[in-house]
Amino acid sequence: MGNGIAHSFAQHGFKVALIDTNPEALERALGTIRHNLDRQIKKEVLTEDDKRQILKRITTYVDLRQGVSRADFVVEAATENESIKLGLFRELDALCPPNTVLATNTSSISITKIASVTQRADRVIGMHFMNPVPVMKLVEVVKGYSTSVDTIHSVIILSERLGKIPVEVNDYPGFVANRILMPLINEAIYALHEGVADREAIDTVMKLGMAHPMGPLELADFIGLDVCLSILRVLHDGFGHPKYAPCPLLVNMVTAGKLGKKTGQGFYAY
Ligand SMILES: NC(=O)c1ccc[n+]([C@@H]2O[C@H](COP(=O)([O-])OP(=O)(O)OC[C@H]3O[C@@H](n4cnc5c(N)ncnc54)[C@H](O)[C@@H]3O)[C@@H](O)[C@H]2O)c1
Repeated sequence: MGNGIAHSFAQHGFKVALIDTNPEALERALGTIRHNLDRQIKKEVLTEDDKRQILKRITTYVDLRQGVSRADFVVEAATENESIKLGLFRELDALCPPNTVLATNTSSISITKIASVTQRADRVIGMHFMNPVPVMKLVEVVKGYSTSVDTIHSVIILSERLGKIPVEVNDYPGFVANRILMPLINEAIYALHEGVADREAIDTVMKLGMAHPMGPLELADFIGLDVCLSILRVLHDGFGHPKYAPCPLLVNMVTAGKLGKKTGQGFYAY
């Protein structure tokens, strides 16, 4: 997600510091950005010169302090894990200029909780991009309990400058997108687990029958099975309802390191 967010900001004229603790992830991210820019050139959305300019606007860092010390706006897109995000927001709050807005791309973790570890809860907000970021129009703008009206307005205007369509939602587990999507994916995994049908049959029913562009198992692989499991756990803990309990097959696959497209194996092989 980080590479897609960096790509979109740089494409729309913003200078971007792309930060990851893992230098290999940064290399992979730049490779993905180049590949996706080439696709846009092929579709005649961008030119070779645009690509050069866009890449020039992106600098990579492994050191958080160097990357954010002069940032006007931060979008955090680290692993979907509450303790990682809380730790990062404590650091970001200490390292960023006082007026910087700290947005998170979390799929499900409470914005209010993330904001609570900072001294600037009014300037903490959810800016939930969809995957793949350069293609998908939606940004779910998630208001934490203390998020100010100014912060919401600035994120709406910023989303529009990125060519996106922002939709405001409130801070409940999974917000809107994943509160609805993850139970669907989980149910598809249960259908596979219980032998109701094979993976192709499940995906084909949903694609042809419901006009979904991707079947739910294919989509889960694309999102990352670890990300899906983390989101389901947030829903399960947050609502305390058994309907959100992750399917044991999903839990086993994540434990076995079969995380979907990013590891080459999920419900399908890549
Ligand atoms: N995968 C999706 O389709 C999708 C869609 C929308 C939102 N999201 C959200 O975006 C975020 C990232 O998801 P992803 O699928 O790209 O995850 P990912 O696991 O593929 O990538 C996360 C990256 O964060 C890095 N990281 C971990 N801790 C860090 C730290 N302290 N500082 C800097 N970098 C750190 C990791 O090295 C890794 O490269 C999550 O919050 C997820 O819920 C994901």
